[in-house]
Amino acid sequence: MSLQTEIKKRRTFGIVSHPDAGKTTLTEKLLLFGGAIQTAGAVKSNKIKRHATSDFMEIERQRGISVATSVMAFNYNGRKINILDTPGHQDFAEDTYRTLTAVDSVIVVIDVAKGVEIQTEKLVEVCRMRKTPIIVFINKLDREGKDGFDLLDEIEEKLQLRVTPLSWPIGMGQRFKGVYNLFEHKLNLFKPHGKQLDEETVEIKETDQETLSLHLGDPAAEELLHDLEIIHTVYPVFDHQEYLDGRLSPVFFGSAINNFGVKELLDCFIQIAPPPGKRDTQEREVMPLEKEFSGFVFKIHANMDPKHRDRIAFMRICSGKFERNKNYLHVRKGKSLKFSNPTAFMAAKKSVIDQAYPGDIVGLYDPGNFKIGDSLTEGEPLHFVGIPSFSPEQFRYIVNADPMRSKQLQKGLMQLTEEGVAQLFTKEDNGRKIIGTVGALQFDVIQYRLEHEYGAACRYEPLNLHKACWITSDSKEALKEIVTRRKKDMARDREGRLVFLAESSWALKMAQENHPEIEFHFKSEF
Ligand code: G4P
Repeated sequence: MSLQTEIKKRRTFGIVSHPDAGKTTLTEKLLLFGGAIQTAGAVKSNKIKRHATSDFMEIERQRGISVATSVMAFNYNGRKINILDTPGHQDFAEDTYRTLTAVDSVIVVIDVAKGVEIQTEKLVEVCRMRKTPIIVFINKLDREGKDGFDLLDEIEEKLQLRVTPLSWPIGMGQRFKGVYNLFEHKLNLFKPHGKQLDEETVEIKETDQETLSLHLGDPAAEELLHDLEIIHTVYPVFDHQEYLDGRLSPVFFGSAINNFGVKELLDCFIQIAPPPGKRDTQEREVMPLEKEFSGFVFKIHANMDPKHRDRIAFMRICSGKFERNKNYLHVRKGKSLKFSNPTAFMAAKKSVIDQAYPGDIVGLYDPGNFKIGDSLTEGEPLHFVGIPSFSPEQFRYIVNADPMRSKQLQKGLMQLTEEGVAQLFTKEDNGRKIIGTVGALQFDVIQYRLEHEYGAACRYEPLNLHKACWITSDSKEALKEIVTRRKKDMARDREGRLVFLAESSWALKMAQENHPEIEFHFKSEF
């Protein structure tokens, strides 16, 4: 198959939601439709299996939140679908932001009763910034929830998305009768306990009132027609290009656990979602159709096997064809690497692959070569952009609790920070080490992993800081001045870049005023 055909086939997307909205359930149902799994519950049981085989996941089990980002691929109607799962917990938001750099579109899951929740707002903001096309799925229609129009208003207001419904619910909770599919003009009737894959679908135009009444009863049919009239008056007609440009989001309603509305979502998704697109590098735009391979690492997953400290670097392929056992340039290190066991993640299974194409996510065995954002090419020094580290907001001093094992501690800290679990700063005045994270939970993750994977012990000491931001300036004198005058507020990150430690937002503001020639950066990519 030609490169072009392979690219056209692929749809790489992420599902994002606030925890508990139904992301895992929806993923599982999509996999069921794709024939990638045979039984409901397989994804969840996979979750449990992962807990059992990885120490790191033990934390997830204990806390009952999804920490890991996994990749699942399946074929459906001639398309190859790559789903990138994302942790919903806010403490791992940075992980999710980075995963979103590797997708071409996103499905946002919203709980019909809870509406738009805070974590969804943040994630959608990231997608909006990148103009990622978004489809919204409103879940749990088998339960009582908010009115459909109120939800659309809420999405427009809180997520700042322009929306148009492509399906519309008929009742909800006990009265839930089904959805009308505006994309295909079909009525889908809900069977309350039907967890089987087939839905009762009636091809019926909304103008055929008689048949609608026959299936729904008069009052529900009237209500539906009334709602549809409002939809046609108030909401824009679905425009494919507007969706692709990230300017219009179609909305679907359903119940993932009951398999309801999921097939409509999937069928529409494969028709409208974009194939792998271009990617920006510092040097130039990279098009998927280019002959030469390129890709970047957006996630590093440690310790799949607790007995070994190996890691898997997840790479998104951006152009050309990736091949097993071929030499590629690791641009940052300027060295040539080849991979004898690149893996792909088909459904719950990991398997070695010989080749992969743009849009695919490949797992590369990593003995410590990679850090997040690294690129691999056939020789061109490309640096992909848009894979930032955010300035952390939680800080603690880290202290070695076992002086006999300081080497292990150092190595562990180096590797964990390469994975992007946290950032490590060294103070300029006294050389003390500071861990900075986006969420508090990472401190526990680090302590646990240092102990279990590296045999090192650490403890934390409190540190009251508001933010750490990277500083640069065109003026060498200005930099020298701030470093000398504010030595106790200065640190270096692991790359040796200068970082200003602000005790409060006021202190940050003052520093910005007092040092006008200094630029303060809140992302490490500048
Ligand atoms: P998440 O990945 O977004 O965190 O959510 P997940 O799919 O784990 O779903 C959260 C809970 O919501 C689960 O219940 C799940 O069964 C339920 N759920 C998902 N879709 C629907 C739906 O369409 N209708 C209803 N009523 N519930 C739904 P749980 O009790 O937390 O877990 P479980 O015991 O069912 O596995």
